[in-house]
Amino acid sequence: MKKVQSFILTLFTIINLSGNLFGQGNKILLPPLLTGPQFELTLQNGQYEFFPGHPSATMGVNGPILGPTLLMKKGERVDIKVKNNLGQRTTIHWHGMHVSSVNDGGPHIVIEPGTTWNPKFEVKNRASTCWYHPHLDRFTDQHVSKGIAGFIIVQDDEEAAFDLPRTYGVDDIPLAVQTKAFDSNYDILYDVNSDKTLLVNGVRDAYVDVPAQVVRFRLLDGSSQRTFNFGLEGNLPFYLIATDGGLLDAPVQLKRLPLSPGERGEILVDFTGMEGKTIALMSYAAELSNGIYGAAYPGPSPRMALSGYNPNPMNGRNFTVINFKIGAKTAHAVTSIPAKLAGEKPYTTDGVAHQRAIDFRAKTPGPDQLNGDFYINGVSFDINTINITVDLNDKEIWTITNNTPIAHPFHLHNVGFYILDIDGGLPPAYARGKKDTYLVPGRHSSMRIITKFTDFANDSIPYMYHCHMLKHEDGGMMGSFVVVDRTNSTQPIEEISEGVLLYPNPAKKSYVTVSTRDASEMIQAYSVIDGRGRILVYHIIDDNELSDAYSIPVSQYAPGHYIVKVVTTKDIYEKALVIAK
Ligand code: C2O
Ligand code: CU
Ligand code: CU
Repeated sequence: MKKVQSFILTLFTIINLSGNLFGQGNKILLPPLLTGPQFELTLQNGQYEFFPGHPSATMGVNGPILGPTLLMKKGERVDIKVKNNLGQRTTIHWHGMHVSSVNDGGPHIVIEPGTTWNPKFEVKNRASTCWYHPHLDRFTDQHVSKGIAGFIIVQDDEEAAFDLPRTYGVDDIPLAVQTKAFDSNYDILYDVNSDKTLLVNGVRDAYVDVPAQVVRFRLLDGSSQRTFNFGLEGNLPFYLIATDGGLLDAPVQLKRLPLSPGERGEILVDFTGMEGKTIALMSYAAELSNGIYGAAYPGPSPRMALSGYNPNPMNGRNFTVINFKIGAKTAHAVTSIPAKLAGEKPYTTDGVAHQRAIDFRAKTPGPDQLNGDFYINGVSFDINTINITVDLNDKEIWTITNNTPIAHPFHLHNVGFYILDIDGGLPPAYARGKKDTYLVPGRHSSMRIITKFTDFANDSIPYMYHCHMLKHEDGGMMGSFVVVDRTNSTQPIEEISEGVLLYPNPAKKSYVTVSTRDASEMIQAYSVIDGRGRILVYHIIDDNELSDAYSIPVSQYAPGHYIVKVVTTKDIYEKALVIAK
């Protein structure tokens, strides 16, 4: 493994340099493809030359930047080992994956330095392009900007039945498009608006060789803040085949595809007969309306400013994202765009159990309000608060109203959604498939989404919904929700908690002990929840310290009633705990 990485890096450096020498741009780095069901990921610090001769300190997965592409098959049970060698805490979130909140890798599922997190889950997603990135409370922008991000490609039988390009790196190419900011020492900056360097898979001034046939690109806007308005040079049409949640009913012919941070789009481009030519994928940012990060002005008028935003050559101007250098056709080329695909049926509004309002607002109104911080429903994110409780299998409509002057990409963990309408109108043709992130326009716009909270219930470990502009997310523009199964919790607590013992109870000393009845059942995590449903602690036990019994410190808690939730290798239990006076 080590050898392959350094070989790739050396090769990559050579290409980088020679590309510059001959003025051809730099060949993109293709993230290595790892095939499941077992994955080994090491989060590490590194050095990387975005600018030849000027190493920058970075973070990456199994290498100095980005991370390998994880190929998962629907229905398989994946087992992922995530070793944290960063020397600091982080988390890894599987953005777009439908997994339990314990496996989701949100801010509660911290990977302590030096430890290994080992999520195991069944892949329930349809074939789609998802991605992974850190999600530590208040540190997401830092860890993503430093370089950690990778693709997840989910495959299934449904997608396999279509004649689509799927040879990784040849006619099926992942493109992580990001902008970064550097200081004069080539250190990566975060939480800033001076992101002037465009990178595709970590490479500046990028090109990729493509064959003269139908090629699939998996586009990811992995930027901290920037929205791109993708289009091909000369307005060559392309075809959107999948949104965040997977295949559409049929390819949608487009000239532009805007993507905001966190969004993905799979497109087909037909290069048939174009051998020898070079075609640029552009961002037509001049066409973005003001108030979108990436347009000429970050707010609705030049009067509203963000420090570092103007002047920035990327804002409000069209630029090349990557050049496609078209070479010879391959042996088993896909040569036509399929007429039909298989989309998932969008949810109808029948039987909606709840409607909720999500309100985006700036903490400080006035001309300075673009700078945040921002509120959702009047509050900043608090890791100990559950903002929303939904019932398992309920269908819900959420109305996200943006009372700030700028657009924010709304992201929902776990389930994804369909957009019902935006300011009363149908969403654009490219946003009618299943999404998990979408840009809500500014100035009192509202977007209604519909979703269903299937499969996973856990009333103490929440999922997140948030703005995917990482500076905003870190600045509090995030909320949490739990999915609860009330049909289950109507059982008396003792009955569903038989598998573990908690003693002494009432607690008198500084510790209580939790132990499983079956000694082969290991305790992986516990949480203590107070009478108001707030998580006071959520502790994950190191893989190499797993045991069937564990001591939980309780001396810091006031006398009263608590719930202790215990996650074991087999199940999740809850026990009522009384702390005596
Ligand atoms: Cu891509 Cu909550 O994140
Ligand atoms: Cu996510
Ligand atoms: Cu935002």
